Amino acid sequence: PTVEAVELERTFIAIKPDGVQRGLISEIIGRFERKGYKLVAIKLIVPTKEFAAQHYDDLSSRPFFNGLCDFLSSGPVVAMVWEGQGVIKYGRKLIGATSPQASEPGTIRGDLCVQVSRNIIHGSDGPETAVNEIGLWFKPEELVSYTKNDEKWLY
Ligand code: PPS
Repeated sequence: PTVEAVELERTFIAIKPDGVQRGLISEIIGRFERKGYKLVAIKLIVPTKEFAAQHYDDLSSRPFFNGLCDFLSSGPVVAMVWEGQGVIKYGRKLIGATSPQASEPGTIRGDLCVQVSRNIIHGSDGPETAVNEIGLWFKPEELVSYTKNDEKWLY
């Protein structure tokens, strides 16, 4: 398709505190970058527990909710927005299954982590969640619009 026909979808991706502590920032960013996706927003942030609870508000009835919010707010998180064709669904493919034990080798979780409660990365699970999560973590002006010559080399 011509670049005009390519829908430039966006997703929210976060490297959780375990990924940051383990020195996996560049490894994870590199995988999205090498695939051909475009980074349009990034910041390092220590979320409060209240903010973590907002991010995971649909999971508030789950037994692991409290621990999950403690974990997300336990240290710096790399919050990002990635853009590109099919990035929501394919980003989840790059990440792998929720449980690292079920993630295929070659995926981020399959290659780099072991346990579901320390699964190093989060990615929006659908278009609606992506919009909501981007809106929760970023102000509109923090999303940077720039040309990367994708028209010629990717699409
Ligand atoms: S579930 O079980 O189908 O609802 O799981 P899912 O919707 O894929 O996961 C939602 C988020 O909860 C995290 N999760 C857990 N954290 C800690 N302990 C346990 N047992 C657990 N199970 C699921 C999971 O990693 C998802 O968080 P994100 O940040 O989206 O990966």
